[in-house]
Amino acid sequence: MKFFIDTANLAQIQEANDLGILDGVTTNPSLMAKEGIKGTEAIAAHYKTICEMVDGPVSAEVLGTTFEGIVEEGKKLAAIHENIVVKVPMIKDGIKAIKWFTDNGILTNCTLVFSAGQAIMAAKAGATFVSPFIGRIDDSSWDGVQLVEQIVNIYNSQGFLTEVLAASIRNPLHIVRCAEVGADVCTCPLNSILGLLKHPLTDNGLAQFLKDAQAMQ
Ligand code: G3P
Repeated sequence: MKFFIDTANLAQIQEANDLGILDGVTTNPSLMAKEGIKGTEAIAAHYKTICEMVDGPVSAEVLGTTFEGIVEEGKKLAAIHENIVVKVPMIKDGIKAIKWFTDNGILTNCTLVFSAGQAIMAAKAGATFVSPFIGRIDDSSWDGVQLVEQIVNIYNSQGFLTEVLAASIRNPLHIVRCAEVGADVCTCPLNSILGLLKHPLTDNGLAQFLKDAQAMQ
């Protein structure tokens, strides 16, 4: 399973990248706004900086909702860097645009996916990635990881090549469960990635080893 970081914060991207386990980055308008990025030029410059930091796909989301608007914006985003993946919302015009991008060699990430039916439509349009939002599904007392499993099974049985990118990850257990059910990618906040490292027995064991090591010096 590939690890993407779900942020537009450069310090967090750098910290995850320095671990050597980072395969890509996803952003969305909320994450970009959180960093105070405003205006077309600043947005493009920020995506370029991220692409130069991380050697892997970088999802950049369109802000338009019409077919023409999404295609126009997506072409500009894709021109920023070869690693840009155009992130498109799961709406009717979004699906039409994803098909257009597919036919024109532009990589896409179909976002805001909350059902298997939506995931089938994204795959039929040729999306490179599909993003089920598992944390937001859990928030409404459904099981987000179960949806990831359902999509993985459908794609496998139908031979769809779209990669299942589990998004809206909220904790390390989400990552473990997504790995169990065969997600191709997990995009995670930095804290969830770092949470995978934690175990009190590791901390206790290391403290003891360090103490005993002193006796050998
Ligand atoms: O990038 C989309 C997604 O990961 C959003 O996560 O935590 O806002 O539901 P969250």
